[in-house]
Amino acid sequence: MKEILVIYHSMGGNTRKMAQAAADGVGRIEGACAKMRSAGEATLEDLLSCDGMLIGSPEYFGYMAGAIKDFFDRTYEKGHTDKRVFRKPFTLFISAGNDGTGALTSIERICRGYSLKKVFEPIIVTGDIQEADLERCVEAGQTIAAGCVAEIY
Ligand SMILES: Cc1cc2nc3c(=O)[nH]c(=O)nc-3n(C[C@H](O)[C@H](O)[C@H](O)COP(=O)(O)O)c2cc1C
Repeated sequence: MKEILVIYHSMGGNTRKMAQAAADGVGRIEGACAKMRSAGEATLEDLLSCDGMLIGSPEYFGYMAGAIKDFFDRTYEKGHTDKRVFRKPFTLFISAGNDGTGALTSIERICRGYSLKKVFEPIIVTGDIQEADLERCVEAGQTIAAGCVAEIY
């Protein structure tokens, strides 16, 4: 069974909706299961044990949420040197009021430091979350999960 980590932070609920949709997408793929974790509760072990991941953050003050940054701070030293993290497939989803690029680029930069492999175009949603946005999150979850099951990454 391939384990896909969906890690997110959400104060107002928007990013949580996207995370739930991504996890639902993972669940539609036979042979994969989603492990949904808020950034505050996620651990180094979650990062090491998963087969792929989706990371979701709101944009706060032109940057990723502090809880997401805290997760990276807590796991980077041991995470980026561990061969289990090298080239692990991932993508990102961002909820923002009107921009989102600051959150996206700051997370992408850190993910390059971990040597993660981006395999799906990151999703930025500005404003209210629409059904079509959630469908893209479902598709992201399905794509990462299906690729991991097929071992194509
Ligand atoms: C403290 C704070 C700072 C924010 N800063 C930005 C920002 O820099 N750029 C932006 O586009 N939206 C900004 N927003 C709007 C949020 O990104 C947006 O409401 C998002 O959907 C919140 O996600 P959440 O409901 O998962 O917390 C900010 C919201 C808050 C509460």
